[in-house]
Amino acid sequence: MGYKVVVVGATGNVGREMLNILDERAFPVDEIAVLASRKSLGTEVTFGEKTLTTKDLDTFDFTGWDIALFAVGSEATKQYAPVAAKAGCIVIDNSSLYRYDPDVPLIVPEVNPEAIHDYAKKNIIANPNCSTAQMVVALKPLHDRARIKRVVVSTYQSVSGSGKGGIDELWDQTKSIYNPTDDKPPKQFTKQIAFNVIPHIDVFLDSGETKEEWKMVAETKKIVDPSIKVTATCVRVPVFVGHSEAINIEFEDFLDEDEARDILREAPGIMVIDKREDGGYVTPVECVGDFATFISRIRQDSTIENGLNLWCVSDNLRKGAALNAVQIAETLGNRVLKKG
Ligand SMILES: NC(=O)c1ccc[n+]([C@@H]2O[C@H](COP(=O)([O-])OP(=O)(O)OC[C@H]3O[C@@H](n4cnc5c(N)ncnc54)[C@H](OP(=O)(O)O)[C@@H]3O)[C@@H](O)[C@H]2O)c1
Repeated sequence: MGYKVVVVGATGNVGREMLNILDERAFPVDEIAVLASRKSLGTEVTFGEKTLTTKDLDTFDFTGWDIALFAVGSEATKQYAPVAAKAGCIVIDNSSLYRYDPDVPLIVPEVNPEAIHDYAKKNIIANPNCSTAQMVVALKPLHDRARIKRVVVSTYQSVSGSGKGGIDELWDQTKSIYNPTDDKPPKQFTKQIAFNVIPHIDVFLDSGETKEEWKMVAETKKIVDPSIKVTATCVRVPVFVGHSEAINIEFEDFLDEDEARDILREAPGIMVIDKREDGGYVTPVECVGDFATFISRIRQDSTIENGLNLWCVSDNLRKGAALNAVQIAETLGNRVLKKG
């Protein structure tokens, strides 16, 4: 006996990837429903060999369904996640709405799977921001060995992180650069994204940092350890899928780069590709469609006593969203619901 699963936002980037991953990982699904907004009613999406037809979230009855994987924005989540949770369906949410709620666990299964038991407080579990998810997979095993004091991270985030509209804007604007009569001014992004980079993701806060940068700070503390200091600069780059991060880590104890490489090689969810030669590292185009978080360029930071630098790349629609959500569902199944 398996699970009755609802994918909410099934026509979106993350929702479609959730369907792929449920199938690829053979999640024990007895029955599946795919939901989107009313305007997408009847749109067909693929689940393995099957074609499914989307239903309207607004009129869907969650009673009797086990798990709802939500991949809609915060507004729709605010309206519908409590309805699903109240009907007894456990919500795994990709939006930022519940991530900082003390009664909602925020989970990356390689890092803090034990937090799953807190789901029952609201029947809701939160999935972290894409940039945080891949970073904490790399930080956790290093923290366990040498205690991280401070992290300085710069991100290079793909346009798919801002939904279907972001992908369309990069595609259309790139073509329009070669066809000046077909001007495509910025809509989704604040400046031209084609052949450019934009140091601004999500809204500005009074502190001068952006909400995306703040999320990396707050979520790392909630998932790994509140004592870790994080400072981030988040940048949108003209890449379709795959987020990259240059991460500088300061430890309490000395950690040699070779030992760090060995620790990361053994760590769950990580693939180390780190040869000091042309092409001996991973770039975003190579990580698309993969489950792993890739680590390259591991090296000592000689400017501080106990420091390392590394390069971290992952498919933001997978580890940054859909894969992590399905892994949470697997953790829930293995540790709590025990069906299938
Ligand atoms: N992309 C990433 O890397 C990433 C990473 C982590 C978290 N997230 C989060 O995941 C969520 C989805 O992101 P995405 O990239 O998949 O966005 P997207 O491609 O724009 O897709 C949005 C999905 O939500 C549905 N939706 C929106 N408003 C709705 C409403 N009022 N009622 C019903 N359905 C509604 C859309 O349905 P229609 O097609 O009918 O409009 C579509 O299926 C967001 O909260 C985002 O912040 C994304």
